[in-house]
Amino acid sequence: MKVLVIGPGGREHAIVRSLLADPNVSEVHAAPGNAGISKLVPTHAIDASDPDAVAALATRLTADLVVVGPEAPLAAGVSDAVRAAGIAVFGPSKAAAQLEASKAFAKEVMAEAEVPTAMARVASNAEEAADALDTFGAPYVVKDDGLAAGKGVVVTNNRAEALAHAQSCFNAGGVVVIEEFLDGPEVSVFVLCDGSNTVALAPAQDFKRIFDNDEGPNTGGMGAYTPLDWAPEGLVQEVIDRVAQPTVKQMALRGTPFVGVLFVGLALTSRGTRVIEFNVRFGDPETQAVLPRLKTPLGGLLMAAARGELDKAQPLRWSRESAVAVVVAAANYPDAPRTGDRIRGLKKAGSLEGVHIIHAGTRFDDEGKVVSAGGRVLAVVAVGTDLVEARERAYDGVELVQLDGCQFRTDIGGKAARGEIRVLSPGMPSGTKAKAQP
Ligand code: AMP
Ligand code: GLY
Repeated sequence: MKVLVIGPGGREHAIVRSLLADPNVSEVHAAPGNAGISKLVPTHAIDASDPDAVAALATRLTADLVVVGPEAPLAAGVSDAVRAAGIAVFGPSKAAAQLEASKAFAKEVMAEAEVPTAMARVASNAEEAADALDTFGAPYVVKDDGLAAGKGVVVTNNRAEALAHAQSCFNAGGVVVIEEFLDGPEVSVFVLCDGSNTVALAPAQDFKRIFDNDEGPNTGGMGAYTPLDWAPEGLVQEVIDRVAQPTVKQMALRGTPFVGVLFVGLALTSRGTRVIEFNVRFGDPETQAVLPRLKTPLGGLLMAAARGELDKAQPLRWSRESAVAVVVAAANYPDAPRTGDRIRGLKKAGSLEGVHIIHAGTRFDDEGKVVSAGGRVLAVVAVGTDLVEARERAYDGVELVQLDGCQFRTDIGGKAARGEIRVLSPGMPSGTKAKAQP
């Protein structure tokens, strides 16, 4: 099988790496890719968000399957164009991608499907925003309705700051979703969907804030680890029964079946498990940690989803090891990251036991050297027999990477490794009983 992977980041590098390990995948291409991806497979310099360009490339390559990584091409309708060209595609249609592209739409579908989530209100002017903020009280949660690369959400105790964020969204012509604050640890669960069937991957935890101890502004994600030993037994089954299946059913009823990854962002709050958000693609950097543990060949699985045949898939097989991904970000990320800096030490870091490097924002300069080209530059990924060993290996790797002014968190997976995560969640309201957990 010949597969074309669309996207430029770390998630796509991780997907390409796993596809290459699938014996039934004969050839992988990527567009546009990055420096790390181009060392593995042929890359093609096209605009990943141009549906016609992607469909034309897939046709020219006679690809059997196109895997769309990021949200922007999905929201732009890339999957629709590829499907119209008669090629199997793993990734939702433009209409189904609204589950991520509009937080207000996601809330509407969650309400229809009775998915437990935060109470929320949509506001389109300052008066409505102030009213909603006062209804829910502090801490205030204000979300840009549209796509914002994980940076459109402000969580603050400061009412003026919350209002200012809402106003900046209104000024840009948008609306905001204001919702109740959800306490408790967050979990990311990726659910593969084929329009009617669902298969969940092992849960992971992401670290959204730029600084240690969850301080500073939100980013796209500064690191991740998996599995989550502390997560309640039956969490994954609960996500399937109460979130993924009802949502997929609702999307099919609406005439916009969901094919691809339904990324369920959860908070395990003291009042129960709640959905924080839906995304319509694999998480970045969670994927960098999750895929190295997946023993089931990825290509076959994504093809089964694209063809509506997930019901025929064998139960997933997982390595018993733990995996940690530590993101190395550029100076001044997430504001205006500095780019064009030389990156050294990658070979050394990548040759440590259990360690590999996943590129995100990198490119080759004129001399063929790897330089930074984005906010999140790369991830050092390590697997180990347990979380403690995986963390040690990952941070040994990070120490060897040289990038001027780079930033990374030193506490990825730290609390979990020390057994310090407490879950007070009683599960989802009137949830079904737990059955299984990957
Ligand atoms: P989102 O883009 O909706 O995933 O939000 C990004 C991040 O903001 C989440 O991962 C949470 O850390 C935080 N967040 C979003 N919604 C809430 C909420 N209702 N309560 C607390 N934190 C939230
Ligand atoms: N790491 C969170 C995301 O991909 O949105």
